[in-house]
Amino acid sequence: MKNVRVRALANLALVKYFGKRDLQMNLPAAGSLSLTLEPLSTTTEIAFRPELERDMVLLDGKKAADKFASRVSGFLDIVRDMSGTSEYASVVTENAFPTAAGLASSASGFAALAYAATKALGMTIDKEQLSALARRGSGSAARSIPGGIVVWNAGEKSDGSDSFAYPVAGPDDWDLRVVIGVADPGPKAVGSTEAMELTRTTSPYYREWLDSVHIDLMNALRAVEQRNFTDLGEITERSALSMHAAALAGRPGILFWNGTTVEAIHLVRRLRQQGTEAYFTCDAGPQPKIVCTKSDEDTVASALESLPGITRIIRCHLGAGVTEI
Ligand code: DP6
Repeated sequence: MKNVRVRALANLALVKYFGKRDLQMNLPAAGSLSLTLEPLSTTTEIAFRPELERDMVLLDGKKAADKFASRVSGFLDIVRDMSGTSEYASVVTENAFPTAAGLASSASGFAALAYAATKALGMTIDKEQLSALARRGSGSAARSIPGGIVVWNAGEKSDGSDSFAYPVAGPDDWDLRVVIGVADPGPKAVGSTEAMELTRTTSPYYREWLDSVHIDLMNALRAVEQRNFTDLGEITERSALSMHAAALAGRPGILFWNGTTVEAIHLVRRLRQQGTEAYFTCDAGPQPKIVCTKSDEDTVASALESLPGITRIIRCHLGAGVTEI
């Protein structure tokens, strides 16, 4: 069968996904909204081959660790079931950024894998079905299928067919920028799935967190429609801080931040006082991510770059959905 090579971008949630309504089907308890981030890309090449006795997975030029390889195989089993093939595949995947450091490599990774595998098997599925499929690998991967500014619906169905992401603005519709500070390139201390489940089952703030997501998502959608950056930025920062507050209140409390992350929050507040519209967000790792518009990007980038503990910055802009290359 044919070799397929695809490229997918990571995404950054402005309204966070943090909690599932179904662990098995990977269904979120609430919707979320994200920016698709160029140049944080994963490139994946796949070929299904009859002679293989198991899936062969290479990550960044090396044989993938067992945990990673079995996650890939588990996902390919879903695709094999859908298509009716029993062939194993060789998968060669490369990330253009640190893997599993809270920089959403699982989002671009599973988006790329879903597209590459379904194309290689000649399956005809539309973008919404593809997004729902990518979701099975990692929830946030659903949001890396469409490109631009994206909303992922929680959906209501138990089979997950209405829980997919779709674009609400194209990559060229609004020139938003994200400056990411790498505060620790190592792997995450706690994985997102585990952190979400612990928060859902033990945090006294989990319910309140979920209630707030519904309101934030509605308002964020309006802010995108009206291109109101102040509103969108305020919702972004609030959503991140609320998510982390809910996780912190879990038992045991989950703390993704390090000292540099906290300094970055102070920095963003100082920048705003000085008239630079910048907003903080952060995911399941310590890396601060600052959202701003094009006119403030240089100011934000040089401020973040000079923060002690930041080893590297990555400047991002809105990018496209998954593509064959
Ligand atoms: C904190 O998509 O990595 O980045 O569905 O369990 O694989 P799983 O989780 P994942 O979670 C992302 C969580 C987050 C917030 C977000 O991206 O919305």
